[in-house]
Amino acid sequence: MNIAVVGLSHKTAPVEIREKLSIPEPQTESAIAQLTSYPHIDEVAILSTCNRLEIYIVTSETEHGIREVTQFLGEYSKLPVISLRQHLFMLLHEDAVMHMMRVAAGLDSLVLGEGQILAQVKNTHKLGQQYNGIKTILNRLFKQALTAGKRVRTETSIGTGAVSISSAAVELAHMKVENLAACRVAILGAGKMSRLLVQHLISKGAQQIRILNRSRDRALELAKQFPDQPLDIQPLSEMMTVISQSDIVFTSTSATDPILDRAKLEMVLEPSQSLMLFDISVPRNVHADVNELANVKAFNVDDLKAVVAQNYESRRKMAQEAEKILDEEVEAFDVWWRSLETVSTISCLRNKVETIREQELEKALSRLGSEFAEKHQEVIEALTRGIVNKILHDPMVQLRAQQDVEARRRCMQTLQMLFNLDAEEQFS
Ligand SMILES: NC(=O)c1ccc[n+]([C@@H]2O[C@H](COP(=O)([O-])OP(=O)(O)OC[C@H]3O[C@@H](n4cnc5c(N)ncnc54)[C@H](OP(=O)(O)O)[C@@H]3O)[C@@H](O)[C@H]2O)c1
Repeated sequence: MNIAVVGLSHKTAPVEIREKLSIPEPQTESAIAQLTSYPHIDEVAILSTCNRLEIYIVTSETEHGIREVTQFLGEYSKLPVISLRQHLFMLLHEDAVMHMMRVAAGLDSLVLGEGQILAQVKNTHKLGQQYNGIKTILNRLFKQALTAGKRVRTETSIGTGAVSISSAAVELAHMKVENLAACRVAILGAGKMSRLLVQHLISKGAQQIRILNRSRDRALELAKQFPDQPLDIQPLSEMMTVISQSDIVFTSTSATDPILDRAKLEMVLEPSQSLMLFDISVPRNVHADVNELANVKAFNVDDLKAVVAQNYESRRKMAQEAEKILDEEVEAFDVWWRSLETVSTISCLRNKVETIREQELEKALSRLGSEFAEKHQEVIEALTRGIVNKILHDPMVQLRAQQDVEARRRCMQTLQMLFNLDAEEQFS
């Protein structure tokens, strides 16, 4: 069995490609069902965020397993595999394990050290179990990665400053306009990212903030969290009117198609009216054609890279501290994994020797006669058990202690050959 991850991220694919491969939560069940229906995928977990889509698998045939995931990605995105491939990365076993740890710790994020990813990894773990994609091996891997992520957040200072995609977007807006207090700001959406937008906008001095959301209750809930700042709540149906009265618009909804495009803007904006749009959604909420309008400037998540670069330098040192923690967690997973590999050989050997012991014991007891057997059975039983355990003790300890994968496999093969064992790999 091998662990592999196939995916794409902000490091390998632009947002135009990433949004085609975003798997929203309601589609996770069917995606997992399709992936587990392939012949070489034994376990699967799907991590889909604005920065990445990663499919973790456990497979007995790595090459086939990876081909099946790639086929799935091609079908799902409706992109030819040949053009998709240039954006994909693939990592195997130790590299896949380390990658998952780095992702959970926020070290692979666009905004280094952002905290949202840990909750997203947790959700992936939950959904993977709920829809029967995650079994023994991925379960252990996700638990270890979540431990790693939590340790990095509590034992290093990488999470200080509450950085997120939202804070980076506000930072970019601040750089562009300088005086946020004078700007009329609108936010489309009232979810987690919108809440962070409001928080950072307020901290940068914004005073005129309007929230537009599909459901009014969620927007009111958001407003309640900022009792000291009046927030104007509007229904999404008022979107174009509110936009026409705004200088800056942030979009952070989970809509799967653009909700704003050139045609809609043209209808409400005066020809000389300027507008800045900051879209942190993936799939994007703002159609790329808005850039054709002379006075509209639109930015998406990939445009945050410039802001993030400054943040990166100051956090790089903290990331180095975090890497040490990740090494420990990878090692802990590896020890478990190695012990798993030896389980089938050890249990086969035990079964074989135990069967011999029972047969020989039975023969000896029948030769000794029923009177002797009844009187001394316990002692003889304990004697044979003791001999078997003592003989098996050293080979088992030695086998488990083999650190080197190849040396361990050679030991197992030798044991299987010498004792004529038929050790099928078992992981459950
Ligand atoms: N979470 C992150 O770490 C993160 C980071 C960067 C970017 N993003 C991106 O930011 C966006 C929002 O993420 P989130 O975590 O804030 O999500 P969330 O907490 O689940 O909130 C989703 C928001 O989108 C609205 N919405 C959903 N479907 C809609 C539709 N069809 N039309 C209009 N509004 C709709 C919801 O409105 P109702 O209240 O009416 O349901 C809600 O306000 C997503 O595109 C995500 O990929 C997320």
